[in-house]
Formats: sequence, C-alpha cells, structure tokens
Amino acid sequence: MKAIRLDQPRQFSRIDLEVPEGPGPGQARVRIHRVGICGTDYSGYLGKMPFYSYPRIPGHELGVEILAVGAGVQNVRPGDRCAVEPYMNCGRCHSCRRGSGNCCENLKVLGVMTDGGLCEEMILPALKLHPSARLTHDQLALVETLAIGCHAVNRGAPQPGEAVLVIGAGPIGLSVIEFVKLSGARCIVLDLNEQRLAFCREKMGVAHTIFSKGDGAELETLQKLTDGALAQVVIDATGSNKSMGHALNYVGFTGRLVFVGITTQEIAFAHPLMHRREMTLLASRNALPPDFTRIIQLIEDGRIDTRPWITHHAAFDDVLAEFPRWLQPATGVIKAIVDVC
Ligand SMILES: NC(=O)c1ccc[n+]([C@@H]2O[C@H](COP(=O)([O-])OP(=O)(O)OC[C@H]3O[C@@H](n4cnc5c(N)ncnc54)[C@H](O)[C@@H]3O)[C@@H](O)[C@H]2O)c1
Ligand SMILES: [Zn+2]
Ligand SMILES: [Zn+2]
Repeated sequence: MKAIRLDQPRQFSRIDLEVPEGPGPGQARVRIHRVGICGTDYSGYLGKMPFYSYPRIPGHELGVEILAVGAGVQNVRPGDRCAVEPYMNCGRCHSCRRGSGNCCENLKVLGVMTDGGLCEEMILPALKLHPSARLTHDQLALVETLAIGCHAVNRGAPQPGEAVLVIGAGPIGLSVIEFVKLSGARCIVLDLNEQRLAFCREKMGVAHTIFSKGDGAELETLQKLTDGALAQVVIDATGSNKSMGHALNYVGFTGRLVFVGITTQEIAFAHPLMHRREMTLLASRNALPPDFTRIIQLIEDGRIDTRPWITHHAAFDDVLAEFPRWLQPATGVIKAIVDVC
C-alpha cells in the first residue's frame, strides 16, 4: 500500500508498505479516507515538535471506513464510517486507572510517537473508533481537532453568561470557540493577527474580538467589555510562553486559566497576581472518549457547522508539493485535508 513518511525534518518520501496483518481480537482493519493536517504535523515537519520521532508516517485526524473486525468487537461493523481517537493509552497507569487516558503516562499518539494515517489501511483498537451514520469522511477527520477544544472548555467549565477570553485564534483556538459558544458563556477572542479575528467575527459568529498590539490597550478593552470584572475563564491557545505568562492579567478574581497551547519554554508571571485573585491554573491535554461521541452528535444535530473549517484539500499524490505551501500564512489555511481515497 502507498504511504507518506517524514524521514527527517523537511523531508517526506512516498513509500510502499506491506498491508498490515490483522485484525486480531478487539481490533479493526480500516481504510483511511481523509487525513486532517494540523499544527502538530507542521511542527513535526519543521523539526520543532518535542515528542516527535523520525522516521514517522504522520496523520492523527482521520476519517476512516471499517473493512473488517476481529473477535469480540461490538462497537463497529464493516462499512461503518468512523472518527479515530488517536491517543493510544496503556490502560494500566495511574492516569488510565483514573479514567484519564488522555494523559496516560505511556501515551503514544498516532502520527506523532507511532505511525499514523497517511497510508491506505491501518489496524486499530476498535474502542478507539467512533462511528457515525451521517457524517462525511471530511467531517469525521475534523472531530479530533474539535475534541481538543471540547476538552479545554470542559477543563475551564465556563457557566452561562460568564465572560470567556480565548487567546489565539488558530485552529485550536477556533475549536475552543465552538465549545465556549455551546456553553452559553460570552466569547471574546484576542489575537495579534487581524485576519484571524475577522474570520472569528465573519465565520464563527464571535461578537467581540480584541486586536492585540501588545501595548496594554487590550486589557482596557477587556475591562470595558466585562464591566471591569475581566474574564472568569481565560483559555490560552497560542503556544507562546509570553502570551501564557501575560494571560494571568486577563483572569478576573476567582477565575480560571487553561493552557491548551503548548510551549517548550518556561512561563513567568508575578505570583501576587495569581494569589490576590485566587486563580486556578489548568492544563488541557488531548481529549477523552466521551468528547468524541458528543462532537459527532453535535455535528449530526447541526449544532456545530463544519463548513467554515475546511479551507484546503489535496489528493494523496499532491501532498509532497502542497504541504510546504500550507505553512505559508498567506494561504490562509485553517484546516487542510488530504483525500487518501
Ligand atoms: N492541548 C492539546 O492537546 C493540543 C493539541 C493540539 C495542539 N495544541 C497546541 O495548541 C497551540 C495552538 O495550535 P494552532 O494550530 O491553533 O496554532 P496556530 O499557530 O495556528 O495559532 C496560534 C494563534 O495564536 C496567535 N498568537 C501567538 N502569539 C500571540 C500572543 N502573544 N497574543 C495573542 N495571540 C497570539 C497567533 O497569531 C495565531 O493566530 C499550539 O501550541 C499547539 O501545539 C495543543
Ligand atoms: Zn491535530
Ligand atoms: Zn496509561
């Protein structure tokens, strides 16, 4: 079968592989139809992803079709279309035993620490497959990105009417925005990039955006928008350690700050800011199985509109040429999808 492998940073190759054996008990053989490309893949390509190892077949945002199932599989049948939960957890560690397989101590994410879906077929644990009779393969490939935002908003737990500030309007920020809107909280979005803020206003129905020039005026704007109370929940989706440290300024008294963006740098802030306001600081890593089920239902019910999301497509044979282009901001990529078959 055909596959695309990242041999080392900035070097893809088109390879031929044996079709994997199986499915064994509890497994399913799937045909990959769609692969969504995200920041993790771009960072892996650029050699900037801390958990990435090479050579690696990328691809963790998958829309797949079940070809065959092994003994004991109950949740999916041949012919089903599924989203894939790409977090391969051990089931035995402290996190897994507590029901937090999203931060398994031995976690292997498909396409990052183990080979992913830029190929024709895979053998996967059936329990990682989430079927939908109504979603398209494009929509199924979006479910994982949305799950990141879903989990981050669950961590912050905004209540209806509360002000939530989302910092960073990249794909992860956008997925956060979807779930802030569903929570009934008031969504305010801050970014340095006016083009991305315009997207939030025009395509995502966000009423209030704050264009940050980094001169302190953004804090005043937030105060005005919140009658001085600031945000009860701030979710930082920038991946910038500078932004993450500064984000505490936007959190109101008794508020919560969620870091869904990832940095390899240290984050610095003045502790009295946190202490006086008795803030809660939360991390958000990956997502949980019920998030996938919920998102599929929300898209089926029309409560999440996936139409603004997919801005670019490429055929499998064009990935090597297209991928480097998606890194250019001028292309305006939100989500690029590879059509495998
Ligand atoms: N929690 C998880 O499990 C998880 C999963 C996937 C990705 N991520 C992380 O989420 C982060 C965001 O991913 P993405 O694909 O949306 O990235 P992105 O680079 O496309 O978007 C980041 C956005 O933040 C904005 N930004 C940067 N610095 C800023 C600042 N100082 N103030 C305001 N805005 C600023 C940028 O203009 C951009 O619009 C990354 O760090 C990524 O690694 C986390
Ligand atoms: Zn992703
Ligand atoms: Zn585990």
